[in-house]
Amino acid sequence: VCFQRKIWEGKTKIVFSTKDPNLIILKFKDDITALDGKKRDVIPGKGRINASVSSKLFTELERRGILTHFVKMVNSTSMLVRKLDMIKIEIVCRNYVAGQFARRFPMFKEGAKLSRPLVEFYLKSDELGDPLLTEDHAILLGLTSRGEALRAKALTLRVNEALTTFMAERNLKLVDFKLELGRDGSGKLRVGDELDADCMRLWDSETGNVLDKDVYRKGASVAEVQKIYGELYRRVVGG
Ligand SMILES: Nc1ncnc2c1ncn2[C@@H]1O[C@H](COP(=O)(O)OP(=O)(O)OP(=O)(O)O)[C@@H](O)[C@H]1O
Ligand SMILES: [Mg+2]
Repeated sequence: VCFQRKIWEGKTKIVFSTKDPNLIILKFKDDITALDGKKRDVIPGKGRINASVSSKLFTELERRGILTHFVKMVNSTSMLVRKLDMIKIEIVCRNYVAGQFARRFPMFKEGAKLSRPLVEFYLKSDELGDPLLTEDHAILLGLTSRGEALRAKALTLRVNEALTTFMAERNLKLVDFKLELGRDGSGKLRVGDELDADCMRLWDSETGNVLDKDVYRKGASVAEVQKIYGELYRRVVGG
């Protein structure tokens, strides 16, 4: 496989076309951002870590029969994936109270386990600050259909079960995560984008220590963030 043209550069990844129109390459950068891109830094080695953690987790999902875009790693920071027609929705699944959800609903205690997993849709739009969508909003905006929204939710819950089990075996609590789904050539939904410490919250089951991007959001230094990402790499890929 060879990189052809850069077709998009996002905040944390560069997308390249390949000779095969159905395949693209996602190259993970060392950049880290928060607050919809208003805070940004470079964490040396982060691209390699997120690429390996993502590839490990996509492989785990595929092993459990969950469709994803993952094909293979092409080098230490780059992943060959099926090109999908991406749904412009950030799907969030929550198992424990944290982040924005904790701020919006103070009647739930931070860190409390929800009685069942919660799936939420947000519009993928930095300019608008990723507003929360009801299913009717998503349909009205033409982002998805009623049937696809249902399938997206069911797929998200399957991913949640798989990742929760995988993380529990590594003494980690999967607090919440964000997914981006897309449609493949035959219209089937697949898990796209990335699966790593940038898009999920993971707490050590015993100590409660945070092993995800929240350490950066809360002001940790570049060296501290590097250490946390390295620790997660060892737990997820190394173990
Ligand atoms: N399999 C896929 N096919 C097509 N596009 C994909 C696929 N997987 C991920 N993408 C898109 O590739 C881009 C990855 O780049 P990156 O994540 O850096 O962008 P981004 O900066 O997050 O964009 P945004 O800022 O809106 O999130 C995203 O726009 C993502 O939706
Ligand atoms: Mg992104």
